Amino acid sequence: MQKLIVVGGNRLKGTIRTSGSKNATLPILAACILNAGVSTIYEAPRLRDVSVMNHLLKYLGAKVTNEGNTIIVDSSNIQPLEISEELMRRMRASNLVLGAMLGRFGRVKISYPGGCQIGSRPMNLHLKGLQAMGAIIREKFGYIMAEAKKLNGADIHLDLPSVGATENLMMAAVLAKGMTTIRNAAKEPEIVDLQNYLNAIGGRVKGAGTDNIKIEGVAEDKMKPAKHCVIPDRIEAGTHIVAAVITGGEVTVKNVIPEHIEPLLAKMRESGAGITVRDDHIMVQGNGRVKPVDIKTMPYPGFPTDMQPQMMALLSLAEGTSVITETVFENRFKHVGELRRMGADIKVEGQSAIIKGVEKLSGAHIEASDLRAGASLVLASLAAENGTVIENIHHIDRGYERIEHKYNSLGARIIRVHK
Ligand code: EPZ
Repeated sequence: MQKLIVVGGNRLKGTIRTSGSKNATLPILAACILNAGVSTIYEAPRLRDVSVMNHLLKYLGAKVTNEGNTIIVDSSNIQPLEISEELMRRMRASNLVLGAMLGRFGRVKISYPGGCQIGSRPMNLHLKGLQAMGAIIREKFGYIMAEAKKLNGADIHLDLPSVGATENLMMAAVLAKGMTTIRNAAKEPEIVDLQNYLNAIGGRVKGAGTDNIKIEGVAEDKMKPAKHCVIPDRIEAGTHIVAAVITGGEVTVKNVIPEHIEPLLAKMRESGAGITVRDDHIMVQGNGRVKPVDIKTMPYPGFPTDMQPQMMALLSLAEGTSVITETVFENRFKHVGELRRMGADIKVEGQSAIIKGVEKLSGAHIEASDLRAGASLVLASLAAENGTVIENIHHIDRGYERIEHKYNSLGARIIRVHK
């Protein structure tokens, strides 16, 4: 298992470029299944999760080639094979093939992806929506089997704006018979990016980015090859913004769509950070200890849950007490214990964390438990005095392309130890 050794205390300075969005790339790769032809995806990040999805597509019979940040998928020979527990356990987002497989082949069998560190992560909304479209769903021995001679368009109302459920149902509806409406749909920018890809391959999708998405089913022979450039990763961009502020540095973050991270920028300004927004880049100035701010995570366009751990690291050093309330996942405070080991003063009460800012954090031997918790530990260690050892960094590699290279290029001192 690899680990990072971080010597904190340096102010980050310079320019950093955000990679393409992991959470746009994954559903778009799954959607390639619908298009029995060639899709070229540009700006795909080189991440563990993306290679897991590529591996899954290859297992199903697709030809997948990687050229730097470009992925070429030829899904002409994909077969409706059963997706084993071993494959599904590697990455929960593998469940995003459900809708596309059902839409194209009329049957799919996947093992339940199971929960993870941040929550139980059920799929009831995905399955309820597919049933509304006429799928017969059987769940047995930890597998989900879904069948439908031909999916029918349906009027679906999601109990909550689930990102994955919205994406799976959009993909299932592309080749269904008739019109599908998804109400109370998730509005994340990654959903809009998926819509753009689905329309590029011949789908007829509109309304993504609002809570009401309409998909007019088309015949399979309408699918065509497409080229698509994924949007920048708004969570990676947000992580870099916090890295600049927590180290009191001065950093320009490039390849970012500012309106995608408006909720974060508002909170950063409230905390006293210097934020200057330009068309496709943001200039960030750390101005000493931040002021405390209260945060409540919400579905987009609210404050993103995927930035909650990173903000907690920053607010651990604020000049006062902040409260963070996590409303999206039931168990997303795993990073609290590790931040405490570095001297943070944080108390968890139910779904809220009360963070009393301290003057300084000190290095410690800590462990990443999931992707964003790992990112928050990197940020805390950049600001901490002396050295920090972070174990289980494979979690971090799931969502950040060569994180140590990116921050070392700004003056950080991070080494990756392959032990
Ligand atoms: C996506 O996960 C993202 N992953 C997550 O990012 C992100 O945190 C999450 O959306 C929320 O924004 C990808 O896009 C690959 P949800 P997803 O379905 O689709 C409950 C990261 O760090 N729910 O919107 O799984 C669920 O339990 C990852 O990049 C049901 O109850 O999230 C959760 O409490 C972490 N039933 C809430 O909804 C369902 O059928 C939000 O989940 C589905 C979800």
